[in-house]
Amino acid sequence: MKYVKLGNSDLLVSKVCLGCMRIASKTVEEVEELVKKALDLGVNFFDHADIYGDTTCESIFGEVLKKHPDWREKMIIQTKIGIVKGVMYDFSKERFVNGVDDALKRLNISYIDVLLIHRPDALTDWKEVSDTFKILKESGKVRYFGVSNMNRGQMELFYKFCGFHPVANQLRLSITHSTMIDQGLFVNRMDNESIGRSDGALEYCYLNGITVEPWSVVMGPERVTFIDDPKFPVLNERLDKLAKKYKVTKNCIAIAFLTRHPQDLVPIVGTTSPIHLTEMADAPDIILEKTEWYSLLLHNKVLP
Ligand SMILES: NC(=O)c1ccc[n+]([C@@H]2O[C@H](COP(=O)([O-])OP(=O)(O)OC[C@H]3O[C@@H](n4cnc5c(N)ncnc54)[C@H](OP(=O)(O)O)[C@@H]3O)[C@@H](O)[C@H]2O)c1
Repeated sequence: MKYVKLGNSDLLVSKVCLGCMRIASKTVEEVEELVKKALDLGVNFFDHADIYGDTTCESIFGEVLKKHPDWREKMIIQTKIGIVKGVMYDFSKERFVNGVDDALKRLNISYIDVLLIHRPDALTDWKEVSDTFKILKESGKVRYFGVSNMNRGQMELFYKFCGFHPVANQLRLSITHSTMIDQGLFVNRMDNESIGRSDGALEYCYLNGITVEPWSVVMGPERVTFIDDPKFPVLNERLDKLAKKYKVTKNCIAIAFLTRHPQDLVPIVGTTSPIHLTEMADAPDIILEKTEWYSLLLHNKVLP
């Protein structure tokens, strides 16, 4: 496994993060096996959110940590707050301070390594967010702060009010959802790919040392995996060819597509299968050739 510094923090995270959004349907024993496999593979970075499984995902993970308290010190635990069922978004001090306490209880831990604001809220009071982060930092309950699904302007607001950059921005990015990369390749053209949908978020993160954490890394547009999906014949043919060449699986190549990017992206893999996780953990060691990388990116589009 390879490790990178998360943003401007002193955290060294594995270049593959295990996303825990889908573990609600698993038993504690199954999650225990998955987490053990992750640690054995050198995966030390785990992603949560209070809304995953309506808090069940954090709770199951907490049950695993109750059984293995010694695993905590090997882990960098990230969670997200901000989306509230029936309300939309709530970044109020009360919501975040209580939300952190609740997450700590569910996860059975005494501090959160990284807390992300889950989604932008048009009604954000950034001064309140900044004051809340100070309270959480001083209490020792949260070490670092970041964002998710935010564009450049929103990250600039974060910086203006908080006085530091977020350590990470979690954004949707994969071979079939490559808008942030496309935009930089099709500059000033009439093609759809040239449309800026994130206000240059990828470049802003690079400039300011903010780690980009891609999510839904093997998902197609309809939130079904593109791996082996007959709707993506060209892509699967190319993945297959590269998988054979590098003696790995297609989902490993899909992650290698992301880890090949010079910006030190940290893909969040949402698998619940120790087998898939083992396959994908090899990705950072595979350095795709430029033509190979472009053959994946351009499976369904033509560069000018
Ligand atoms: N910030 C945000 O707004 C946001 C939004 C969504 C997700 N996330 C984070 O990102 C993580 C990943 O998201 P995701 O779960 O949507 O992404 P994903 O990793 O692209 O998808 C995982 C799903 O794909 C399946 N899969 C993987 N390899 C497969 C294969 N070879 N064949 C068939 N199915 C395969 C997995 O099944 P198996 O379990 O069987 O492997 C699992 O159901 C989440 O856990 C969460 O932490 C963040």
